Amino acid sequence: MPDQLTIVDHPLVQHKLTHMREKTTSTAGFRRLLREISQLLAYEVTRHLPLTTQLIETPLAEMEAPVLAGKKLALISILRAGNGLLDGVLELVPSARVGFIGLYRDEATLKPVQYYFKVPDGLDGRLVIVVDPMLATGNSSVKAIELLKERGARDIRFLCLLAAPEGVARMAEAHPDVPIVTAALDERLNDKGYILPGLGDAGDRMFGTK
Ligand code: URA
Repeated sequence: MPDQLTIVDHPLVQHKLTHMREKTTSTAGFRRLLREISQLLAYEVTRHLPLTTQLIETPLAEMEAPVLAGKKLALISILRAGNGLLDGVLELVPSARVGFIGLYRDEATLKPVQYYFKVPDGLDGRLVIVVDPMLATGNSSVKAIELLKERGARDIRFLCLLAAPEGVARMAEAHPDVPIVTAALDERLNDKGYILPGLGDAGDRMFGTK
């Protein structure tokens, strides 16, 4: 397991993930669990945000109290499933700027092709958190991060719900500087690129499509 990978083994995360995996979980239930779990994962992915102090007055005394140092955040959702993780993270860091990257797979080359790209300015001065629930082959994550680096992003973290060893290895090769936070590392990919045991197609499960 590369150093860049953090698995959030908190009991609440693991419990909610199990219910998300179950095929009988409804679309509404899946969305609610994803929102809750994304807040818990956001806690981990923002763990190293720099702090400074501010002089405040409690009812009893003055104190130099810790506050965020003001490093600006950008959350980048890889469409469409990334949006499910985005909402929960945004609730914890409401002032973050938000960007979207749309990629589809070219069936001839199997390479990801960009169809949408809208991200905040000044990525070079921001902590950039890329969100996508499933790190499967890693092709779209690697491509999205490449595009963000081309736009100047230097401090990038990747947040997902489930990772496959194949995707982690691909990220380690292409972007060893990008920490990955996930709720679980599953066994492998099947021949269609789905994570096993996984939870199925995250986009379909959160939006009720097939
Ligand atoms: N994308 C998904 O939604 N699920 C997988 O298992 C792999 C990629």
